[in-house]
Amino acid sequence: MKKIAVLTTGGDAPGMNAAIRAVVRTAVSYKLEVVGVSRGWWGLINEELKSMDHRSVSGIVSQGGTILKTGRCQEFYTEEGQRRAFETIKKHAIDGLVVIGGNGSFRAAQVFTKKYKVPCIGIAASIDNDVNGIGMTVGWDTAINTALNAIDNIRDTATSMERIFVVEVMGRECGLIALAVALAGGCEQVLVPEKETNFEEICHEIVNGNIRGKISWIIVVAEGAGKAPDIANKITQMTSLETRALVLGHIQRGGRPTAISRDIALNVGKAAVDCLLNGQTNKAVGMTANKLAVVDFETAIQKKHVNVDEFYNLIKVLT
Ligand code: F6P
Repeated sequence: MKKIAVLTTGGDAPGMNAAIRAVVRTAVSYKLEVVGVSRGWWGLINEELKSMDHRSVSGIVSQGGTILKTGRCQEFYTEEGQRRAFETIKKHAIDGLVVIGGNGSFRAAQVFTKKYKVPCIGIAASIDNDVNGIGMTVGWDTAINTALNAIDNIRDTATSMERIFVVEVMGRECGLIALAVALAGGCEQVLVPEKETNFEEICHEIVNGNIRGKISWIIVVAEGAGKAPDIANKITQMTSLETRALVLGHIQRGGRPTAISRDIALNVGKAAVDCLLNGQTNKAVGMTANKLAVVDFETAIQKKHVNVDEFYNLIKVLT
């Protein structure tokens, strides 16, 4: 293996830059050539490559986002798009690919690399932490800390003004941001896509609490479980108590990566290059319980099992 390419694809996650830095510097230390692909799969299709060296990744370890830029590329899901991407790989004599992204990125990589036999290793990076077989993705820790800061702020005003708040966090299919934040933020309720919501029960608890003098509540909702303004309206209608809504949105995707997000990215970035050099392919690398985890793309793209009941029980006991 003489030359590798690295790209970021899907939603950006804080720590992607640290991962790029680790990939580039590890490759350089092994005397490999490295090219960075701009804007994910789009850059492969459109031949947007730039040569990278030790200095190209200076000063980025602390930056959120991705210097390579990223996106979701529909064209890559077509035969023609994949053929053009492969042309670029052949033309530039690229021997291996490091794909930094989430399970959608690995799904695309799997189809492409199986068909065109391009060695490919993925780095599990997503604020949702929804990569199956990987304990903690690059970016998740930063995102939950960002959301937690917001919830701590909301708590101050919710308590002072004795209000109910519904706070929507990211997570279309996976409730791990919501669950982690609700637990750490001491929130009273959490709604996630993995579990059906029982509004009757929630409203009953709110009304009962209200009778006992408990007036402020924070309900965290993952975006896949409903929209905060709709849920707030519903609670107002069912309890006659004023309920406010807040959508945290893309603020959760940005910002300086935490030490945990960076450390994962740096470890995993090096491991990804090692995997390619060891002849591995179609696998995603990440960290589970502080240890490197390498899983087949086939496993990584399956729905991640989240022990929702464990979180619910803990939250119930502790609030
Ligand atoms: O993949 C991470 C994520 O932030 C999800 O939590 C969210 O549903 C989605 O991306 C939003 O994507 P976009 O910014 O493309 O709307």
